[in-house]
Amino acid sequence: MTSSPPAELKLTSEEIALLEGAEGPGVQRAMEIVVTLGRIYGAPDLVPVTHVQIAGVSYKNLGEAGVAFLHAWAEEGARARVPATLNPAGMEMDRWQAMGIDPAFARPQMEAIKAFIQMGVTPTMSCTPYLFPDYAPERGEHLAWAESSAVAWANSVMGAYTNREGGPSALAAAIVGRTARYGYHLDENRVATHVVEIRCPVRTIADFGALSYMVGKRVGAGVPWFADLADWLPPLPDDLTQGGDAGDRLKTLGAGLAAYGAVALYHIAGYTPEARDVGERLICRDAQRIVIDSLDEGYGVMDADPEVTEIDLVTIGCPHASLTELRHIAQRLQGEKLATRLWVTTGRITRDRAAREGLVEIIEEAGGEVVADTCAVVAPVRSLGVRTMATNAGKMANYAPMHSGVKMRYGDIDRCLDAAITGRWT
Ligand code: F3S
Repeated sequence: MTSSPPAELKLTSEEIALLEGAEGPGVQRAMEIVVTLGRIYGAPDLVPVTHVQIAGVSYKNLGEAGVAFLHAWAEEGARARVPATLNPAGMEMDRWQAMGIDPAFARPQMEAIKAFIQMGVTPTMSCTPYLFPDYAPERGEHLAWAESSAVAWANSVMGAYTNREGGPSALAAAIVGRTARYGYHLDENRVATHVVEIRCPVRTIADFGALSYMVGKRVGAGVPWFADLADWLPPLPDDLTQGGDAGDRLKTLGAGLAAYGAVALYHIAGYTPEARDVGERLICRDAQRIVIDSLDEGYGVMDADPEVTEIDLVTIGCPHASLTELRHIAQRLQGEKLATRLWVTTGRITRDRAAREGLVEIIEEAGGEVVADTCAVVAPVRSLGVRTMATNAGKMANYAPMHSGVKMRYGDIDRCLDAAITGRWT
């Protein structure tokens, strides 16, 4: 059997000019990255993007070399030409001393953010740009997003089009306003490769996290079609920027599918936009069938250290907490006094919305912290003395032990809040 070579990448005259340096070395470098990826993946052309989300922002990931690279690119005159926002950094930018962050970490972290700002990137420092009214994507928009949990949301919940970009390729896409048209930018790659049938209750956010582990592990980089998951989901609200009970479950599901597999798109029959419109024609002919009849395997992996009862840090908000989650937490903590540290990690924009409703005050009066700009994975939590953690978030349950060597307990949000109140996992 012979296979035809990929078609030549077609560039417009404007794109060729950028590639030849018409707008300086910074833009030329960005165009080289986008074009190289396009050629590697056999893209027919470049597609304009409406928004870029850049990941790999924490100094913990960047290191000195990464910060120097960003500054060099900014000095070369690279500037974002479409709206671009940032993933969480390694600390809350104006409260890092109070968080106990070492200046040796804080200074280069601030330098990195300065370089992004110089390049015209908005320092939202959140993994949930879709919860911000100014950046929430719409159906059919082409994006260049690098945060894997947000990619799953954009493709699946909104019906937008994005690949899972790397940090430099997302920034390059912002600088040239385009990305290569391959992968999930093409309808033919959005068909379901696996059909998942659920034979057990999936109720809480933690249940969705456990499910995400089990499906992510089995599907890898495939596209799961959830045949009956809509039975366990409330209707999608009109305003998804508040999260809502449905949105909070879906953001956990997408984050875990991306973290435990490499899922960038999933469909829920009768529920997500493409599944609603196209129906079962979206399932490829040789799709594999997966039956989930218990979540025990997921809970067993995530609640990884059952011997741990004393909790140093309870963390909620992975992906960053929505307004709905903040309302739930404030309601539960009203009038309580916490025995251990609680971080509710969220985006600055969501925190401001929550503050206007008085939610931040209630959580802080109980002794909790509503932490913006960062999360317990990208912040150096071990150097803050944290050895044991509890969370209701599937992705956090895996990433925090891996990145920071902490021990982890995992359960639903009320169990986590009880642990914050008593200091113990019961
Ligand atoms: Fe966001 Fe941090 Fe989780 S970046 S998705 S809160 S690991």
